[in-house]
Amino acid sequence: MFKENLLENKRILVTGGGSGLGKAMSERYLELGAKVYICGRRKSVLEDSAKEMMDKYGGSVIPISCDIKVSEAIEEMIDQIWSDGPLDGLVNNAAGNFISKTEDLSPRAFNAIANIVFNGTFYTTNCVGKRWIKEGLKGSIISILTTWVYSSGPYTVPSAMSKSGLATMTKSLAAEWGNRGIRLNAIAPGPFPTKGAWDRLAPGGKGADMMDSIPMKRTGDLKELSNLAVFLMADGCDYLTGEIVTIDGGQWLNHAGNFYEMLKNVSDDEWDMLRNMIKSSNEADKAKRSV
Ligand code: HXC
Repeated sequence: MFKENLLENKRILVTGGGSGLGKAMSERYLELGAKVYICGRRKSVLEDSAKEMMDKYGGSVIPISCDIKVSEAIEEMIDQIWSDGPLDGLVNNAAGNFISKTEDLSPRAFNAIANIVFNGTFYTTNCVGKRWIKEGLKGSIISILTTWVYSSGPYTVPSAMSKSGLATMTKSLAAEWGNRGIRLNAIAPGPFPTKGAWDRLAPGGKGADMMDSIPMKRTGDLKELSNLAVFLMADGCDYLTGEIVTIDGGQWLNHAGNFYEMLKNVSDDEWDMLRNMIKSSNEADKAKRSV
């Protein structure tokens, strides 16, 4: 749906670009001619994904190991990128989430999510924005939200609160930075099943119950999300800023999209089981991060 090389000469950073939604968007940007930087915590995952994408499309994908919870690590990463040349685009995709009864969350559990989604996304946005402003450069930022920013996020409160903050950041900075040619938009995806999200949000096949709530009766295709991310990033929509575009097959208009219906009757024993499944998946990821 786009002309070849639409994104030629663009340099785009995708946080969490080594897997899931981030990888799909990075791949599409590369395919359309952009030079893509991907960051995340798991070096081997980033390197494998970068190689896989370049084997498929050629071009250049640069993997950078960076935990966006740590502001100094972001500064270092952005220094490294800028030493090669300035960015044109940033996609705030990195996130963390798991389902839990809110009364079971400790402060550490809340912070495990909020430090990535809320703090980390702000640190990255401001770090890149400051450079664009200082150097008088235009830029485009896309943040990945969820439809919970319109409705509510029962059983995913730290994520829903953090993503709502990012919706406000998107609109506020679209106004504040608009006169510098910096655009901020956001995408609110519905269910696009990826391993990282589904291990923590639908452990044990719980996601299957959700299909009934989607008017289109299917989950999203990653290509559909990536095409939207290309459209919002491309120069042709320079006047578009401060928008949140929903892509969810109509799910949230059906008063759905959150976990209330699916989880409201889960017993305490079942919650313990789900928590253990999420824990094993987190532990497996941690083991990979230490590689
Ligand atoms: C209650 C839990 C818990 C659970 C962990 N904790 N899992 N509490 N229920 N299921 C608590 C722990 O007990 C601990 O608190 C604290 O959280 C930190 O636990 P860690 O295991 O050390 O977590 P950590 O590895 O730091 O972080 C977890 C994580 C991580 C943030 C989820 O796995 C991660 O970075 N994941 C990235 C991938 C991901 O989550 N993708 C999904 C994104 S989907 P105490 O007090 O006991 O020490 C998304 C939106 C999708 O964002 C929208 C779809 C519609």
